[in-house]
Amino acid sequence: MNILVAGGAGYIGSHTCVVLLEAGYNVIVADNLCNSKAVVIDMINKITGKKLLFYNVDVTDESSVDSIFSKHRVDGVMHFAGLKSVGESVEKPLDYYCNNIIATLVLIKSCIKYKDSNFVFSSSATVYGDNDVPFKETMQLRPTSNPYGETKVMSEKILTDIAKVNSDFSVSLLRYFNPVGAHESGLIGEEQTEFQIISCRT
Ligand SMILES: NC(=O)c1ccc[n+]([C@@H]2O[C@H](COP(=O)([O-])OP(=O)(O)OC[C@H]3O[C@@H](n4cnc5c(N)ncnc54)[C@H](O)[C@@H]3O)[C@@H](O)[C@H]2O)c1
Repeated sequence: MNILVAGGAGYIGSHTCVVLLEAGYNVIVADNLCNSKAVVIDMINKITGKKLLFYNVDVTDESSVDSIFSKHRVDGVMHFAGLKSVGESVEKPLDYYCNNIIATLVLIKSCIKYKDSNFVFSSSATVYGDNDVPFKETMQLRPTSNPYGETKVMSEKILTDIAKVNSDFSVSLLRYFNPVGAHESGLIGEEQTEFQIISCRT
């Protein structure tokens, strides 16, 4: 099976590519490297001893995405290609709405056109808004406090609305908190522009 990993050079995407390759999937990465480096692709290949296909493209660009789908049979899409800084999204809401929403729309359009029926979206626990923890998947979603969060809520809504009328289009939404750590090889991890201090209680 061929899996298209949008944002596969990023933190979560790169670790996902490793797992997919190790599980025997063929991996195609589409990433414009706006928050990652090309060397990550070499590192994924090094860790797994396999070779993924890399396209340096912006997934908001419909013709670039269409050309990937026209060249390869895509059996599933995993969509991690998003801008992710909450603070930056408050300062630059237009950048966040354009990038995150258009990327989702463009990827869905190609899935529907080429009859790829599996879509996994990297959403966020931020969609639960100010609900009380622990969050449950059945909870009513509450408004988020920033444009980044709203792009996740909107993308989820777009995906579920489209899945409702396309019975073959299956959507999974990943609503996680902030993952931490790096691959045990030390070759891939999060690209940090600032240090984060994590305190652990034993
Ligand atoms: N890291 C977290 O704590 C966390 C938590 C919850 C949800 N998420 C979500 O998961 C996704 C991946 O997170 P991450 O931490 O790996 O982020 P990341 O910035 O490391 O990876 C995102 C990748 O997408 C690429 N990208 C962004 N816009 C693109 C575009 N238009 N076209 C092509 N490539 C594009 C970037 O270059 C980068 O390689 C994001 O959507 C993020 O919102 C992350």
